[in-house]
Amino acid sequence: MIEQLKTKLNEIENTYISKLQNCASSKDLQDLQVESLGRKGALTELLKSLKDLSLEEKKAFGPLSNEVKNKLTALFEEKAKVLEIEEINKTLNATDIDLTLPAFPFEKGKRHPLEIAKKRMTDILKGLGFVWAQGPLVEDEYHNFDALNIPAHHPARDMQDTFFIKNTQKKDFVLRTHTSGVQIRTMQKQKPPIRIIAPGRVFRKDALDATHSPVFNQIEGLYIDKNVSLADLKRDLTLFMKGLFGPKAQVRFRSSFFPFTEPSVEVDVKCVFCEGKNPTCPVCKGSGWKEMLGAGIVHPNVLRNCGIDPEVYSGYAFGMGVERLAMFSLNIKDIRNFYDNDVRILEQF
Ligand code: DAH
Repeated sequence: MIEQLKTKLNEIENTYISKLQNCASSKDLQDLQVESLGRKGALTELLKSLKDLSLEEKKAFGPLSNEVKNKLTALFEEKAKVLEIEEINKTLNATDIDLTLPAFPFEKGKRHPLEIAKKRMTDILKGLGFVWAQGPLVEDEYHNFDALNIPAHHPARDMQDTFFIKNTQKKDFVLRTHTSGVQIRTMQKQKPPIRIIAPGRVFRKDALDATHSPVFNQIEGLYIDKNVSLADLKRDLTLFMKGLFGPKAQVRFRSSFFPFTEPSVEVDVKCVFCEGKNPTCPVCKGSGWKEMLGAGIVHPNVLRNCGIDPEVYSGYAFGMGVERLAMFSLNIKDIRNFYDNDVRILEQF
């Protein structure tokens, strides 16, 4: 009995070795593997007869059949690799693809310098605990002006400054002239504490020149809580400027006026190009300082307009021009460089 099995085993081994060596495609090879070693394959079928053998015989035959199985498995694997390479070569030879040619030049996109600058600014502000808020670009006069304590006679409400959108005779809607309206929208729907930034586009009737554009970007900031004071404003904006221009950056607060803040300040940074040492510095015009943003303690009228009690809560706000800060930190002299889409300029950043 065992002798018979051994002969059969031998036969299987030899048959499949020769079949596999003559095999010409991966598909045929797979079929052959199933036919020989698969669940219903020749070898498996043979092993079923093992149950009729004595224990001694089983011990003798088991290792033999295992050996054949391992040998065939290894040969199948080897042959599969050979066939795969042959088939890849065949496909390549059948096409015109020349793998030795250099690849097509691939232009990898980059962030726009304004986006780089904006992200740096918002990352620092996020680190200071501010969350992102949004408002519409087409704003009503109430959110853009009235609620911000900007009176009817204020020059910002002039046709010369603002893009009004005609709405059945009434001057009701405007392309927002600043991001400050988002302060109002946020306070109307959210109770303090509030700590938001609102980056986005704003629009003014300005002619395009080296330092003005009718469309530009601002980042608004608002912090409302109990006992917020000018000291908090100075701390946070100093941290922000040091984050942006480095730990040595010097910051100066000058008193100013905005209808929606009282007191109001303007924030200057020591010129990073001449450090105030060059009287003919083209960047700071020899003044040693560069104005960066407007800020202040939110006017009680503004809080009241949003249903927040100024006796309980106070807060600070700020608004900065992204282009202005980006031009200063990247030493870009002309605002139009941001919008002209000249890749020779844009790819430098
Ligand atoms: N909205 C002002 C502008 O566009 C900037 C500004 C100044 C925003 C002071 C503020 C602020 O929130 O407190 O010129």
